[in-house]
Amino acid sequence: MTPITQDKLIQHHPRLGVEVLQGCNLTCLTDIQLREFKESLWEHGVVVVRQQHLSAKQLEEFARQTFGNLMFGGYSKTLDPDISPDLQSQHVSILGNPKGLGQEPVGKYACEWHHDKDRIPRIEGLDMNALYVVMLYGVEMPGEDIDGQPHTTEFLDMLEAYNNLDPQHQQQLEQISMYHMPPIFSKQGDVAADIPMKVHPIVSTHKVTGKKGLYLGSDTAIPVGMEDRPEEAKHFWLDLFQTVLDSTPVYSHVWHPGDIVFWDNSQVMHRGIPYDATKYQRIALRLGVVDNQ
Ligand SMILES: [Fe+2]
Repeated sequence: MTPITQDKLIQHHPRLGVEVLQGCNLTCLTDIQLREFKESLWEHGVVVVRQQHLSAKQLEEFARQTFGNLMFGGYSKTLDPDISPDLQSQHVSILGNPKGLGQEPVGKYACEWHHDKDRIPRIEGLDMNALYVVMLYGVEMPGEDIDGQPHTTEFLDMLEAYNNLDPQHQQQLEQISMYHMPPIFSKQGDVAADIPMKVHPIVSTHKVTGKKGLYLGSDTAIPVGMEDRPEEAKHFWLDLFQTVLDSTPVYSHVWHPGDIVFWDNSQVMHRGIPYDATKYQRIALRLGVVDNQ
């Protein structure tokens, strides 16, 4: 199978990655600021708040205040004695190598393109169109990626991707839905039978804005009708994804310590870029929440 290639990488995107709440501290925002923040997120798909100094508990409190209680991930009930208590909270995962150089980085599946909504099949009562927001807080970030370039996370605008398709292709995709599953299970070759895959149309309508975009999940997604033809399903996905990459620039967020990047998984795909964990420490706090306010 032909490997995926990409060549259009940009650091300034017309829609994604806008900086919001300049000079504000996320622990003390007014209700109006919170509302405007959310509106910016739905409008831009990816927003950045810079120069924050939060504990994990404060990040979780901000998420609760802004989006509600439906948080997924983390779930640590007891404190890890080798990690500062400030970095720990029930629903916050710590990505990277918080225990120091040489620790195997946590979150290694994150380097392939995906929407974080691949977690949703595991959650009863939520459909794939749920507004699943992820926030990633760069407490300590590597000076460079594995390729010697600044440390980044990459995003693809899936509304732009839909708009860039020719009308005939758009119409064809309107007819197709895909099954989605948690990729961690399929990568282990062991799709848990008690986790039903969830079906979602490839051309997805955003719950708040009503705009159309592509929802591709990850390369484990299977078009309806191809359940018994995994090779064909994989080929279909890779082909479609390559078409997206050929026509849509990749937005690359360059990390600075203190940045919190928020993304709406109904509008963007993303991937992390590997770094040398023997040379740099990375401490990134991650929290995922479904908007229900
Ligand atoms: Fe992710």
